[in-house]
Amino acid sequence: MANNTKQPLLSRIATNDGHGENIPYFHGWYAYERNPFHPTQNPNGVIQMGLAENQLCFDLITKWIKENPEASICTPEGVNEFKEIAIFQDYHGLTYFREAVAKFMGKVRGNRVTFDPARIVMSGGATGANETIMFCLADPDDAFLVPSPYYAAFDRDLRWRTRAQIVPVNCSSSNGFRLTRTAVEEAYKEALESNINVKGLLLTNPSNPLGITLDRETLKALVTFVNEKNIHLVCDEIYSATAFTAQRFVSVAEVMQEVEHCNPDLIHIIYSLSKDLGLPGFRVGIVYSYNDTVVSCARKMSSFGLVSSQSQHFLAALLSDEKFIDNFLLESSKRLAKRYHFLTEGLKEAGVFYLESNAGLFFWMDLRPLLKEQTFDAELELWRVIVDEVKLNVSPGSSFHGLEPGWFRVCFAHMDDETAKVALNRIQAFVQTGNGTTEASPLASLVESTKKISHAAQTPSPYSS
Ligand SMILES: Cc1ncc(COP(=O)(O)O)c(C=O)c1O
Repeated sequence: MANNTKQPLLSRIATNDGHGENIPYFHGWYAYERNPFHPTQNPNGVIQMGLAENQLCFDLITKWIKENPEASICTPEGVNEFKEIAIFQDYHGLTYFREAVAKFMGKVRGNRVTFDPARIVMSGGATGANETIMFCLADPDDAFLVPSPYYAAFDRDLRWRTRAQIVPVNCSSSNGFRLTRTAVEEAYKEALESNINVKGLLLTNPSNPLGITLDRETLKALVTFVNEKNIHLVCDEIYSATAFTAQRFVSVAEVMQEVEHCNPDLIHIIYSLSKDLGLPGFRVGIVYSYNDTVVSCARKMSSFGLVSSQSQHFLAALLSDEKFIDNFLLESSKRLAKRYHFLTEGLKEAGVFYLESNAGLFFWMDLRPLLKEQTFDAELELWRVIVDEVKLNVSPGSSFHGLEPGWFRVCFAHMDDETAKVALNRIQAFVQTGNGTTEASPLASLVESTKKISHAAQTPSPYSS
């Protein structure tokens, strides 16, 4: 028998660090899990502001569930469907589920575009959908351009098992982190010069972590760009229904119709019910491609990440209730706006700067004036103080591959009003104590030693304080 003692016992994927669970983004979650805030049982615990969950409308969903018991197969009213649903295993999914999702996707985009149920491919959340689309479009070592700062888990979702690469397109505070065609072109050119095979551009619109939407003209310019270069455009539109101001969300599905000679084979949308409906536990992700071969390939791959037929059955009923959905979308965006304004107005009063958002479940807070020096080490030092002493788990910008130290993502939609008030008080006290306006705190020395760095010394801000 051959001696295989030199052969590694496990695969390269099993033994590499591609999952990325060691980054501070996840460490903050552990700090919260060890000591979670509770208003009465643990009022000095850590408040979780590092989780992009939308829990502001659960009352509406639970009310609907009670009023529609036949939608669930585990109720006396719905149990007649139990056997059919329990044995269902076609990887195309339930026809009426795909129809309901297609309709919902159109509704979220103001019915300005329609979606074909035949192109709806299921996946395990947008996490699975993003990996699936990468498997369809990129070979190992091929690259996708991704505007930075970007969603921390893209390093895992787009790269780990596919072995594709990410080439960041750096956005900066000098223009309010707006993505431009010029920045994309430069990153593309540099990648080619480094012999990197660029297969496409992946946009998150609305952006995580910035909470801003791409405007129509920029999106048009980017659709034109990918057509000129004959590369793919993947748009992760997971936050599409979270836009909460008059400046509405514009989908690539709308814009591609306005671009002359747009090749639809290059355009793909990633969607999920995790954020817009606030149901990440259901693991409903969607790959919607205008490319027939990609639809067919992604559907075959969907065998590895199907949504359970029980979830499909329930969600089809929920999404098909148009009156409920219309009200839900309206109410959700109102509540998001209210929470966003409550927190950001409070920060403004305390003199804390942030990037003005119009969508998402978070905003991008500027704590550069509190850094001892403008480095990522100093950012992490400040972040540890915020997690350990202020007891707020916000996420440091370095986790999102931002270029400028001192920015933090603050999630605001998965807590109740009372917890939001406590969170705001904590951050106001943290900042103000250093300014000598309240009693000294253990943090005062840190703030004291850094407050000399004035905002005047920073990049001018085109956004609000
Ligand atoms: C931009 C983006 N894409 C994908 C995901 C993953 O979502 P899901 O829970 O549907 O897998 C997230 C989650 O935060 C996200 O922010």
